[in-house]
Amino acid sequence: MASIKKLFFIAVLFYLPLHSFAWGMLGHRIVGEVADSYLTPKARLAIKQILGNESMAMASNWPDFIKSDPTYNYLSPWHYADLEDGLSYEQLQDYFKTDTIADAYTKLTFLIKELKNKQLPKDKQLLYLRLVIHIIGDIHQPMHVGHTGDLGGNKISVMWFRDSSNLHRVWDDQLIDYQQLSYTEYTKAINFTTPAQRSEWQQQPMSQWFYESYQVSRELYREIKQPYQKLSYSYNFKHIAELNERLLKGGVRLAGVLNGIFG
Ligand SMILES: *[C@@H]1O[C@H](CO)[C@@H](O)[C@H](O)[C@H]1NC(C)=O
Ligand SMILES: *[C@@H]1O[C@H](CO)[C@@H](O)[C@H](O)[C@H]1NC(C)=O
Ligand SMILES: [Zn+2]
Repeated sequence: MASIKKLFFIAVLFYLPLHSFAWGMLGHRIVGEVADSYLTPKARLAIKQILGNESMAMASNWPDFIKSDPTYNYLSPWHYADLEDGLSYEQLQDYFKTDTIADAYTKLTFLIKELKNKQLPKDKQLLYLRLVIHIIGDIHQPMHVGHTGDLGGNKISVMWFRDSSNLHRVWDDQLIDYQQLSYTEYTKAINFTTPAQRSEWQQQPMSQWFYESYQVSRELYREIKQPYQKLSYSYNFKHIAELNERLLKGGVRLAGVLNGIFG
């Protein structure tokens, strides 16, 4: 009995620090649904040929679902780019220029390049497209461009109302779930952009997308003054606009990338 308890304890210990979460189901679906609105007809057709009857919103969660299959363990670090604290934009750009580890930046660059290759086998097209849809969502979740030492906030314990949680998880799911909207309702509620805004967001370099998240996460870290700090009504009130903007930008930029590949 004691050894079973011990085993369980060890299992929990190993499980806890995993960097295993992502914009939850809703966040990814919202990004996919926003993006679908801004595809060129040509890109939409090409994507339909790859995804079949799976919408972008539904395809977006697949890279999280497959985490239950060890065959895909190698994809885990593709969902985020954790950094040291205090980098300027120039330092971040320099870092990415020589970055060779498997992270969201190097892998997005790889996936986009591969998808432009018309000879890419069908199974790879499907895998890579689902990953691009997912990862562009992830990097707009501020805590996916957080700090290395705490696994992007996974190790920063907080209370979300009366539940114990962590900073990463609050931003993956809890703040979004709190709005009590379906992904289609949510998309309708935030889908307001001008063409000028969209083209500005899409043209900004990918390093800037990461830097925006990194700047937001820096602020989110600073707000946590003590372990198990309670986040509730005022946290939602303070951050809701920022959250919605990250989701919207993620969707608009995803459309831009896909139009660039298939358009
Ligand atoms: C998509 O749905 C249509 C209509 O039901 C069906 O004919 C088609 O075979 C489906 N495509 C795939 C790839 O499942
Ligand atoms: C989002 O807004 C665009 C531009 O107004 C519109 O074409 C599109 O249908 C909207 N998408 C959704 C899902 O509401
Ligand atoms: Zn993810």
